[in-house]
Formats: sequence, C-alpha cells, structure tokens
Amino acid sequence: MSKSKFALASALALTFTPTTPLGARAEPPGDPTAVTDDSGKWRDKNGDPTYKVSADGTVDWYTYSGFRRYHSDCHVCHGPDGEGSSYAPALADKLKTIAYAEFYGIVVSGKKDLGAGNEKVMPAFAENKNVMCYLDDIYIYLRARAQDAIPRGRPPKHADKPAAFDEAETKCMGE
Ligand code: HEC
Repeated sequence: MSKSKFALASALALTFTPTTPLGARAEPPGDPTAVTDDSGKWRDKNGDPTYKVSADGTVDWYTYSGFRRYHSDCHVCHGPDGEGSSYAPALADKLKTIAYAEFYGIVVSGKKDLGAGNEKVMPAFAENKNVMCYLDDIYIYLRARAQDAIPRGRPPKHADKPAAFDEAETKCMGE
C-alpha cells in the first residue's frame, strides 16, 4: 500500500460510519517478506505492515502486541490463535487471501453476510480505540499466523518495545 493509501485508511478510521460501503475488494495480500524497518514496525515491499521473526523465534514487538490485542478483543468470537470458532471464521486462514486494506475496512465498518438465516455479525470497531489504535498490530500478528511464521500460543520471545510505538500509542489513545 502506498503512503497516500495508508493515510487514507487512517483518515477513514476516524470518519467511517458503519453504513459506508467498502471500496475495491479481493486484492491479494502480497509477499509478506519484511523489507523496511519503520522504527521497529516492519513493512513489506508494498509498504503494508508485516511481521519479522528471527531465526531463534524472537518476534518483532508488533507481532507480540498484536497477539495480546487479538486475544483481548477478537478471540472471543474468532477463537484462540486465529483458529476460528463455530461463531466466526478462522482469521489465520482468511488472512491468506484478505489484503491489508480489506482487513482494515472490515474491522472499521463491520460485516454481515445477508445469507438466509445468518444471524452472525462482525461488529464495527471504528469507535473502539482499544482496537483501532492497535489494528496494525493485530493485522501483523494474524498475517504471521496465516503464513505459519509463528506457532499457536504466546510468542515466547519478542523484541523490545520501540519508542515509536509508545509515541503513537499515546497520541492515538489520547485523541
Ligand atoms: C462479536 C463477535 C466478533 C468479534 C468480537 C470480532 N468478530 Fe470478526 N467476525 C465475526 C463474524 C460473525 C464474522 C463473519 C461475518 C460474515 O461474514 O457474515 C467476522 C468476520 C471478520 C472478518 C472477515 C472474514 C471474512 O471471511 O471475510 C475479519 C477480517 C474479522 N472478522 C476481523 C476481526 C478482528 C480483527 C476482530 C478483533 C478486533 C474481530 N473480528 C472481532 C464476529 C466477530
């Protein structure tokens, strides 16, 4: 994703209303290889957030943060480790095909398939800072799970928390 698209996604997070239809879909997620280090947050060649796992299994801070945020805000429906439940799909599978922009849009505005008898709803999280301020983290964690880059469970070793993370967190949560 280009810088401008990223800025747009951030702006949408603040202004999106749940009734706004989503834009273009079904763009594949692309190569997850980490190529640039953006102050401790890794990005792939398209500029989308991604994970970085060292040979000894140490994960980057955002993967670890995403693990924690996923398990506080998503796992009740989507199951531990992104493995799915009888209520909601396995995001560790879905993120093999859902790209960053689409993921972002679904979490911001929610989703409900209008199939007959489908009572299951993905809530819109646009107003929930505990999700929106950490959405890249959650994406990065699930992307790593989708690529089997990390096993199930809590990552045993993680990189230190970057100063840039603290700054962004304070700004986002304080707004
Ligand atoms: C209250 C239960 C619930 C919670 C909490 C929840 N989801 Fe969902 N989610 C669902 C359901 C149900 C669906 C399937 C909706 C449909 O397709 O009709 C879904 C679908 C999705 C999809 C789309 C998958 C696809 O097949 O296209 C994504 C992405 C997603 N959720 C991400 C998240 C994230 C990230 C969180 C945590 C911030 C989260 N969800 C929290 C219930 C939930």
